[in-house]
Amino acid sequence: MRMRQLQSFVWTLLLVAAGAAADSSQWPAQSSPFPADAAEEARLNGILARMSLSDKVGQVIMGEIQHVSPRDVKRYRLGAVLNGGGSFPGKDRHASAADWLALADAYHEASIDRNDGRPAIPVIWGTDAVHGANNVFGATLFPHNIGLGATANPVLLELIGAATAREVAATGIYWNFAPTLAVPRNDRWGRTYEGYSEQPDRVAELGAALIEGMQGAVGRDFMAPGKVLATAKHFLGDGGTTDGVDQGNTEVGEDELARIHASGYRTALGSGAQTVMVSFSSWNGLKMHANPYLLQEVLKGRMGFDGFLVGDWDGHSQVPGCSAGSCPEAFNAGVDMFMAPKQWKRLHRNLLRQVRMGEIAGARLDDAVRRILRVKLRAGLLDAPRPSSRPLAPERESGTVSRSEWIGHPEHRALARRAVRESLVLLKNEGSVLPIEPKSRVLVAGAAASDIPSQLGGWSMTWQGDDIENSDFPGATSILGGITAAVEGTGGTVEYRQFSELGTGSAASLPDVALLVYGERPYAEYEGDVKTLEFSSRDKSHLEAALRLQAAGVRVVSVLLTGRPLAVPDEIEASDAFVVAWLPGSEGAGVADVLIAASDGAPRFDFAGRLSFSWPERADQAVNNPGDEPYRPAYPPGFGLRYEQFDGS
Ligand code: BGC
Ligand code: BGC
Repeated sequence: MRMRQLQSFVWTLLLVAAGAAADSSQWPAQSSPFPADAAEEARLNGILARMSLSDKVGQVIMGEIQHVSPRDVKRYRLGAVLNGGGSFPGKDRHASAADWLALADAYHEASIDRNDGRPAIPVIWGTDAVHGANNVFGATLFPHNIGLGATANPVLLELIGAATAREVAATGIYWNFAPTLAVPRNDRWGRTYEGYSEQPDRVAELGAALIEGMQGAVGRDFMAPGKVLATAKHFLGDGGTTDGVDQGNTEVGEDELARIHASGYRTALGSGAQTVMVSFSSWNGLKMHANPYLLQEVLKGRMGFDGFLVGDWDGHSQVPGCSAGSCPEAFNAGVDMFMAPKQWKRLHRNLLRQVRMGEIAGARLDDAVRRILRVKLRAGLLDAPRPSSRPLAPERESGTVSRSEWIGHPEHRALARRAVRESLVLLKNEGSVLPIEPKSRVLVAGAAASDIPSQLGGWSMTWQGDDIENSDFPGATSILGGITAAVEGTGGTVEYRQFSELGTGSAASLPDVALLVYGERPYAEYEGDVKTLEFSSRDKSHLEAALRLQAAGVRVVSVLLTGRPLAVPDEIEASDAFVVAWLPGSEGAGVADVLIAASDGAPRFDFAGRLSFSWPERADQAVNNPGDEPYRPAYPPGFGLRYEQFDGS
């Protein structure tokens, strides 16, 4: 008891301190891009007036599909369900589009099955399709956001948003927990790859483009067939935590919070983002899930956000005094919907009691429910038929493509392959070793060249991107597969080896060029936090291989797979050419498109990627952004060589 009192005392002090420092005029003054609609608001009022208290409480809760049955949705009138990373219908990772749809239909029908005269409100299902529909067997997986940041191409991002939406909608799901608008400022963070850039303007530009493709543009094709709702996450400061600790504490002034970390929200809201996910992290010691100043005054007030705020995975439980099953503090601070994967039932019971006891004001509950209903109404979900009966594309585009055929559709894969090409960043190309000439004898080395999970990273079928294999990704191409096809197409040959298999070899068997593929192992969230930016401290076999090959006179090309900038000065030194391929996703063949010349020797595609993060020289340069002191990057943002720069030289 004493502990609890002490906690709440410290809490009050923090709240007072936060309030005192606050100055909302530092934040962009905005209003909703949706024009005020009196008829819509009247309809919402009508629905609200007919809901019971228990209905309203159900509406503000989201449980996880392994823990919520359609019967639960019906009985508790839950507003939403989600599937977490690595959670599939029937726990089957190879679940078909039909399996996903059947479960989406079952939840939907349960939610509208009602005959007591009270309003039946369709449930909404949320998912993490953070680089394509990455939970779905056979889907197209796009490069993770760090690679898309390097493309610096908003037109491409809009197309990717649209393709992702269509593959998600094909499974009957209409709400995506993406994009991440974090501005990662410390590359030790395990979620660095979920961010587009360390530069706020780049995040603002690309995030808005993705959202417009995913949802459609307000006033044009918002939530038209095949569109899904986006989520701007994680509000706010997730990329600014001290030491890059995931879910940590962002210790910056309000000016920096607004200028750097809120940049993507300004444009996301302007593009019509209807849901914002609250960050696990704290701002100057105060958990974001309990920060009424930023959630209500700034976001819903000053920035005009009239959609709803969803909590992160039991994020409310981290507020002092709260648990997964009870947290009036978060709700009172402005969280409109709890993400309560497992403890949703307990939460329902406690919320009911807290409203009855006056710990939560009825008006606050009504406000949250009204926001959730408003979003469902705007998105057309209040009146939509069961998911399997909703059209997936405008009539003229759908042609003869069946619903399930949109998943991993060749056009989407071609788009992802283009994204891979545009994301590659060339840091070095001595003696123009790239593009690799026609008829070359190419040695490819490194397990990552043929291992598709290595090119996917986290949030790929499983949460961590571990425990998966090539056969879990039918239709995907490996880097090796792409290289082999391209090289053989010009009359050359490819030999594939592991680093451990590379002896010195006799001169006669030496290849013309060696292509080494290596990089980080997949990870997600806090499991990816690191102490330094050193690459592979225990295993340097890739570097030994490069040095040995160079000593034997073989030209070496390195391809690095990574979710963050890494200090690799020795690797760069030991390579004639060095390519950063980020986490390219399912279309590994996009790497060969740029690296291997056509039969006439000309590049088939030029490099287009530019660093959207400063590249470090040393492993201790985790905080490495323009303006930081000291700031001595090996390569600054914007850096990326082109073939054409070497033409005629
Ligand atoms: C992550 C969110 C994600 C949620 C649901 C959380 O752990 O922080 O980004 O949307 O889980 O899977
Ligand atoms: C879930 C993720 C979630 C994470 C939070 C995992 O078990 O699959 O979706 O983000 O837990 O810790």
